[in-house]
Order: sequence, then C-alpha cells, then structure tokens
Amino acid sequence: MSTNAGPINLFEFEALSKERLPKEEYDYIAGGATDEISVERNRRAFESWALRPRVLRNVSALDLSTTVVGTRVNFPVLLAPCGGHKKAHPEGEFASYRAATACGTILAVSANASADFQELTKAAPGHLWLQMYPFRDPEMTKSWLQGAKELGYEAVCITLDSQWPPKRERNIRNNYKQMRGANYPKLGPGESRGPGGGNPAATWKDLEWIKSATDLPVVAKGIMTGEDVELCAEAGADAVIVSNHGGRHLDNTLATIEVLPEAVAAANGKIEVLLDGGIRRGADVVKALALGAKAVFIGRPLFWGLAVAGEQGVTRVLEILREEIEITMAKCGRATVASLDPTVVVKAPPL
Ligand SMILES: Cc1cc2nc3c(=O)[nH]c(=O)nc-3n(C[C@H](O)[C@H](O)[C@H](O)COP(=O)(O)O)c2cc1C
Repeated sequence: MSTNAGPINLFEFEALSKERLPKEEYDYIAGGATDEISVERNRRAFESWALRPRVLRNVSALDLSTTVVGTRVNFPVLLAPCGGHKKAHPEGEFASYRAATACGTILAVSANASADFQELTKAAPGHLWLQMYPFRDPEMTKSWLQGAKELGYEAVCITLDSQWPPKRERNIRNNYKQMRGANYPKLGPGESRGPGGGNPAATWKDLEWIKSATDLPVVAKGIMTGEDVELCAEAGADAVIVSNHGGRHLDNTLATIEVLPEAVAAANGKIEVLLDGGIRRGADVVKALALGAKAVFIGRPLFWGLAVAGEQGVTRVLEILREEIEITMAKCGRATVASLDPTVVVKAPPL
C-alpha cells in the first residue's frame, strides 16, 4: 500500500472501514455505553495537554523501544485485547498477530477471540498476552491460566471492569448479536449464556488468588482510580491498565488520560501503569508516556486496519503511529522513551 494512495492517519482508516463494514459491525466496534460521553472524552481530553517543544538536543538517532512487564517491544504501542477480530477481516487475530510481530509489539488476545488460542501461537514468532476475567467458574480461570503458560503467552491481562453487562444503545437499536468467543467451553443443550464476562461476585480476593495461581505477570485492566491502583498493587498485580474499556462499559467517567496522573501517583513506582482509550495520534502516545504511562494500547484502530487491508492494514496503523511518535519525540528534544518526563507537557488553559 503506498502511503499517499491509502489512508494517511487513523481517522482516515476509520472513515474507510466505515464504508466497508456492515453498519451493525461498524456500530459495535465504534460505539460505547449509553450517551458515549466517555468515548468522546477519552479523545478530547488529550487536547487539554500541550507539548513543550525543545531544540538543539541531538535527536539524530531515536530509540522507541521499551519493556512492558518484562517483554521488550520496539515501540510503546500494544494491541489491546478485543473480541472477535474476524468481524473486520476473515483472517482476524492471525492477521493482527502477524502485524504486531512485524512491528515488534505485543498482541493481547481477548477471552472473546475468534481464533483458537493454540492455533494462534503458530502464526508468528512474536509476543502474546492472554486476556481473561475472574470467571464464574474458578476451575475455568485456573485452566486458562495454565493454558496461557503452557502455550507460551507471556502475561495474563485480567479485565476487571466487566463484572456487569453495559447498556450499548447502538447494539440494542441494531438488534446486534454478539459472537461467542471460539475458546469458551461448548454450550450444553438448552444453555444460552452469551460471551463471557466477569463474575459479578468477584472481589479483591479473586485477584490475589489469580496472582497466586500463575507465575506469569498479571496485568489488571479497567482501573480508573488511585484507590484501585493501590489495591491492585496490594493484590500483587505487576501492572495496571488505566482504562474505561474505550467508554464501552460505564459512561460518564473521566477520560483515561485525566486519570493517569492519579494512577501514577498511587502506583508510586511499585507497579507499571499502562493506558488505553482514544489513542489515535503519536502525540497522544507521547503525552501518556510523559505523564507516566509505560506504554499504551489501541483498540478500535486495529479493527479499522483489519477492515481496510487485513494484516497490512494493522501494520500500517502501527507504522503511522510510530512515525508520528518519532516526529513528536524529535521535536520535543527526546531521543529515548525513558527521557519522556512530565516536562514534555503542560496543562493547556481552555481556549
Ligand atoms: C470491538 C471491541 C471489542 C473489545 N473486546 C474486549 C474484550 O474482549 N476484553 C477487554 O478487556 N476489552 C475489550 N475491548 C476494550 C479494549 O481492550 C480497549 O480497552 C479499548 O478499545 C481502548 O479504547 P480505544 O478503542 O479507544 O483504543 C474491546 C474494544 C472493542 C472496540
């Protein structure tokens, strides 16, 4: 795909994928809970931080590499765990994993993936994490933790904000039927429970238990307060993902970038802080890292990449972000990810 012929930024990827996807699939991916205030806020809040350009600091050789709970990545953007990549392209997660590997980053595989967890490991020589929930059945949680380890997944991501189903009005209006993930146990006759989700009765004891049941790094996803960051650290988590699930679960929250400083302060260097929600530009990534995130994830943009051009599309989405991060870092006088500190940004007064 030549740069000028194809989309040149993630918004153009979204526009093109909207033309190509069936309306109900586009709405499922793009939509959020109730009024979609949090979806919008995740994006807009990045504008409330401005960059502070610096000059004459030798930025001739940039190094974007870093580590995330011990795994080295070529640049600090990971693919967020998202169910059913086949909604957007027949090769689904296989295409996404190859793209992540080509770009030297990690695919976090959703509990609701449309690809078999084992088959997927054979598609590329890269890095995979497995996302799951504290399931209703602890035996299932245990067997997924064991499976992740045996199959060579390098971390488990435990999604904690999905204990109760959300209200997504686009899906209700479209009478959308969500696919059941390919890795759940087969339904018995007469059973109709939809795709997984957390156990509504789960407590911090469950996270402690998960930590004790695996020697893989545990990444707690869906954390939006300093209090919960502290509890994650106490439960033994290795990292938190500051995330409101892309505004898809609870509406009317702050944006994730607004919560980040509180989360970083609460983590107090004890656990890594990651972030997702509304990342669409390299500048967003640089702002998040400057405010203390170790790395960020993209969710919806991976579907836009898949819908436009499968593996090549996801690769291009990641490359565009990488190019934009490079421009931003160079112009802020920062040659390495480690040198992105709070002095890179300043709170921008409202216009
Ligand atoms: C279509 C779709 C499916 C998702 N499925 C999951 C999932 O199965 N598990 C999970 O933890 N998060 C899921 N998410 C949330 C993402 O992991 C991530 O938190 C969110 O998409 C980040 O925001 P962004 O889309 O603005 O980048 C999903 C998001 C989308 C768009």
